[in-house]
Amino acid sequence: MSSPARRLIVVSNRLPLSFSLENGVLKSSPGSGGLISALEPLLKQHGGVWVGSAGTEESSAVHEALAEAARKHAFGYSPVFLTEEEQTNYYEGFSNEVIWPLFHDLQSRCRFDPTFWDFYRRVNEKFADATAAEAGSEDLVWIQDYQLMQVGRFLRSKRPHDRLAFFLHIPFPPPDIYAKLPWRREILESLLEYDLVGLQTGRDQRNFIACVRHFLPKIEIDKIGNGRVLRAQNRSVHVGYFPISIPFRDFEEQAKQAEVEERLRELSEQSGDVRIVLGMDRLDYTKGIPERLRAFGLFLREYPEHRRKVVFYQIVVPSRETIPEYQGLKEEVEQLVTRVNGEFSEPGWTPITYMHRSVPKHELLALYRAADVAVVTPLKDGMNLVAKEYCAARVDGGGTLVLSEFAGAAPEMRGMALMVNPYDETGVARALHQALVMTPQEQKRRMRHLRRHISRFDLNWWRDQFFAAFDAARAETEDGNREAV
Ligand code: UDP
Ligand code: G6P
Repeated sequence: MSSPARRLIVVSNRLPLSFSLENGVLKSSPGSGGLISALEPLLKQHGGVWVGSAGTEESSAVHEALAEAARKHAFGYSPVFLTEEEQTNYYEGFSNEVIWPLFHDLQSRCRFDPTFWDFYRRVNEKFADATAAEAGSEDLVWIQDYQLMQVGRFLRSKRPHDRLAFFLHIPFPPPDIYAKLPWRREILESLLEYDLVGLQTGRDQRNFIACVRHFLPKIEIDKIGNGRVLRAQNRSVHVGYFPISIPFRDFEEQAKQAEVEERLRELSEQSGDVRIVLGMDRLDYTKGIPERLRAFGLFLREYPEHRRKVVFYQIVVPSRETIPEYQGLKEEVEQLVTRVNGEFSEPGWTPITYMHRSVPKHELLALYRAADVAVVTPLKDGMNLVAKEYCAARVDGGGTLVLSEFAGAAPEMRGMALMVNPYDETGVARALHQALVMTPQEQKRRMRHLRRHISRFDLNWWRDQFFAAFDAARAETEDGNREAV
């Protein structure tokens, strides 16, 4: 394992545990989403400290709960406490009403409010201060994702020799879209404060480099293997792409546990001969849920032979519920479910089963195992771990994946998943039909290749690649520092 012998300090907007006060009582719940799914197992294995917001105001109860969690796991928790105003403007505003839609190519959903930007900078400085209080100069400080792109700048100005890496979990947009951002230079310049900037895919790296060329034309760019080295005035910044993945073996093991087998038996008994199609997403407009529901309606209309023989389980995990665009989406999804069910239901058969809640891990795994088809059709996605988890859970070697061309996972899964354009409802309906009539041999052949690929390029592989690239980037910086002395 190539890894820094030094301590790892992971910094992300939220800790893997979130707290809230309900009737004066402190409640904790696990966070959802791909970032936590990937980094929590990594920190449990590697140790270190996780800096992130606790989701509530400071109290001794929160500190005690985090100390208790730290005793259970091999890593520490360093909470950042945000005020309501900071949460509104930095998290809901700049992170999720500017960067999130823009970086997913959905510029018409952006609200470019300058107050959001002020708070984004201030809160990033607050995270930088919290990180500086934790990290020693030999530690690897690893900043995560779009909420914290400016942290590097604040840390670097205070401690120029720190070892700083950044990983972007979401896509990086092409220059014509990125150009809309009023703070486009500031964001790029702050990313150049890290020793290594990691992106998910070749597409994101190309876009990032194209933006640097366009908006910071003085930066020299060299190629090293698949990556790039940017030569800013007095430092080098390495850029690379590292498709994030899952702990494949753990998923496999957990998918075979008795609790999952038991739940799988129940699900299979309930569905009988009816085939199961599964959608599993955070309730987010980037996930293409309305488009998918419309495509499912079209599928039932165009391929009536599947009526009464298939049921679509659409699970949506509540997300960012205080943001208006997300509230509107919930209503839209509910209306579409009602419309499709209204049009096609018959006594004894309802085509869509819709669930709006988080699901515990054993339920998630049983659903993955029970689903004949998983339909993962984001309009754009950094990676999409659900697609990889579905394959890892298929210890029986069955199941078919229908996957959007615009998921970060697409280049890895082309030729093995059934690829679709999520905007093309006719194409998605056709892919659903194809998946359901595919011979078991063909299904197994595709799934075997998918599983082989994901087991090889798993979360450990991702970590090793990233750490090796970081070591290479630092070796160059340290040589440069020595020459400068
Ligand atoms: N997931 C979750 N809570 C749930 C159901 C699923 O946290 O109730 C996990 C799921 O297992 C996956 C992650 O959420 O690891 C979703 O990651 P993905 O990359 O697909 O999308 P993201 O939500 O990060 O945009
Ligand atoms: C995506 C983002 C993460 C984020 C997660 C859940 O995976 O890349 O940074 O944590 O969604 O979103 P939330 O806003 O609830 O943290």
